[in-house]
Amino acid sequence: MNAKFPLSIAVLGSGKGSNFQAITDTIQNGSLNARIVCVLSDVADAFILERARRLGIPADYIDPAPYKTKLDGAAELKTIKRLRHYRADLIVLAGFMRMLKSRLLAAFSGRIINIHPALLPAFPGLESWKQALTYGVKITGCTVHFVDAGMDTGAIILQKAVPVLDQDTPETLHARIQEQEYIAYPEAIRLLIDGQCGAWKKS
Ligand code: GRF
Repeated sequence: MNAKFPLSIAVLGSGKGSNFQAITDTIQNGSLNARIVCVLSDVADAFILERARRLGIPADYIDPAPYKTKLDGAAELKTIKRLRHYRADLIVLAGFMRMLKSRLLAAFSGRIINIHPALLPAFPGLESWKQALTYGVKITGCTVHFVDAGMDTGAIILQKAVPVLDQDTPETLHARIQEQEYIAYPEAIRLLIDGQCGAWKKS
């Protein structure tokens, strides 16, 4: 890999930002050669923006209107502009609840990753921990993968398994999956930094 270090990471999120926090903590304790250059959100009052501001990281709301489930039109263009402004090398989706469209995917080809709360290709889409419970699988987990135009279909970087317990509720299972996410996401980014992931490229 031909990246400058520390690696410049932009985070996109719509929610509470606990994965963002885990990545930030790992950077701060010195075990990830990276820095977060910005956090962008499609939700004006998302806690991820608040977390970033408390850390002194640029945090921008991008109005996604008129689209409900995708980042398209003016919002997509504005996002590309912000990511270029902050010179992001890697785009990390951390609970970002919109599909990315072709202009953004092309602008950062091979440089966008996501974390999904299931062992893909099982249970793509929303509330995967509920899907896992309903199906009755005995093992689920989380997956860090590259983002392509599909729904949770990109090349897999890393997975962590989580046993499903008889007494699990959606809440307890999701909480245990999230514990593994906080390990998996920094580990996957480290694989990219160390050049241990074949699909990774930096232009
Ligand atoms: C995580 O469970 C992740 O797998 C999914 O969205 C959730 C984000 O949580 N894509 P948080 O905002 O990082 O706390």
